[in-house]
Amino acid sequence: MTGASGFIGRHLLDTLKDTHRIFGMARRSQAHSGAPVHPNISWFQVDIGDRERLAAAFRSVAEGGGAELLIHLAAHYDFTGERHPEYQRTNVDGLRNVLDLCRSVLHPGHFVFASSVAACACPRAGAALTEASPADGKHVYSVSKRIGEAMLAEYGRDFHSTVVRFAALFSDWCEYAPLFSFLGTWLSSAWNARILGGKGLSAVPYLHIREVGRLFRLLLDRLGGLAPGEVVLASPDGAVDHLTLFREATLCYYGYRRRPLLVPRVLCGPGIRAGNRNFFFTHSHVYCSSGLRGDTETIPWSSLILFIHSSSW
Ligand SMILES: NC(=O)c1ccc[n+]([C@@H]2O[C@H](COP(=O)([O-])OP(=O)(O)OC[C@H]3O[C@@H](n4cnc5c(N)ncnc54)[C@H](OP(=O)(O)O)[C@@H]3O)[C@@H](O)[C@H]2O)c1
Repeated sequence: MTGASGFIGRHLLDTLKDTHRIFGMARRSQAHSGAPVHPNISWFQVDIGDRERLAAAFRSVAEGGGAELLIHLAAHYDFTGERHPEYQRTNVDGLRNVLDLCRSVLHPGHFVFASSVAACACPRAGAALTEASPADGKHVYSVSKRIGEAMLAEYGRDFHSTVVRFAALFSDWCEYAPLFSFLGTWLSSAWNARILGGKGLSAVPYLHIREVGRLFRLLLDRLGGLAPGEVVLASPDGAVDHLTLFREATLCYYGYRRRPLLVPRVLCGPGIRAGNRNFFFTHSHVYCSSGLRGDTETIPWSSLILFIHSSSW
């Protein structure tokens, strides 16, 4: 598992550690990242952009028993909307290194690639993203995921691959920066606490990180039945619009639903505009892959709101 020290990686290690032997890879150490420590987990501190060191790590994995499955989570993303050299170095060149070394050294039977629903452009109003939607987003992050998804096809003779497009993942501790920022603003006394951009109908498909463990258990059971290169959406049906989010969050915190101030998008701050442009889906419905469907849980408002406010205690 590359990217084992990240948000998804740490949770997946927890889910799989009792049932699988796992070789985790990341630049940070287990201790530094807070990744679980367990007799079934071996750790390699390696930068996937450094081909020589990555090759040495892959050889050690091969000598240590090899791997039937490679879960590739390592990637760069941030919410600045800026271009960053790591999109190319890690997301594209690093992935190339991982794929080439799978072909020449590790020979896994299956490769799971972490992509994103944000790889796709926002669907038009009333339309939905599905597994068949093209990865046609224009943002540099989306483009890096599109290149990654396309690259897998070049290795079709070497191993089967599956693309998992994740929705926006959050935890009981929030851990999804835009959601943290929205709740932190709406539940504060700041001047913009009641401002929503546009009609408040831009929306995000949120998924609790807990669901990712469940999805991977289902996925691992059914990998053999998936078509080569198949796309799976790790997403709830539908997306939560910001008006609903605002109303429910304020109800939970104040005991009543605050009335938002709806401000035309052109008058909103760049953060709100950028968010709408890059990450959010207006009136969209995003579906779990059929056959991998699981019940998704609703957002745990109380714990999220408690966390937002305890962070300033
Ligand atoms: N979280 C979400 O809401 C979400 C949504 C859609 C898609 N995804 C995708 O899911 C995957 C995992 O996301 P995440 O939320 O777990 O991300 P994250 O918390 O930012 O973790 C990224 C992981 O990649 C590793 N990494 C980054 N650059 C690396 C490099 N050059 N060499 C080796 N390791 C490197 C990081 O490890 P070190 O820093 O220790 O090197 C870390 O383990 C990513 O591909 C992301 O694009 C996530």
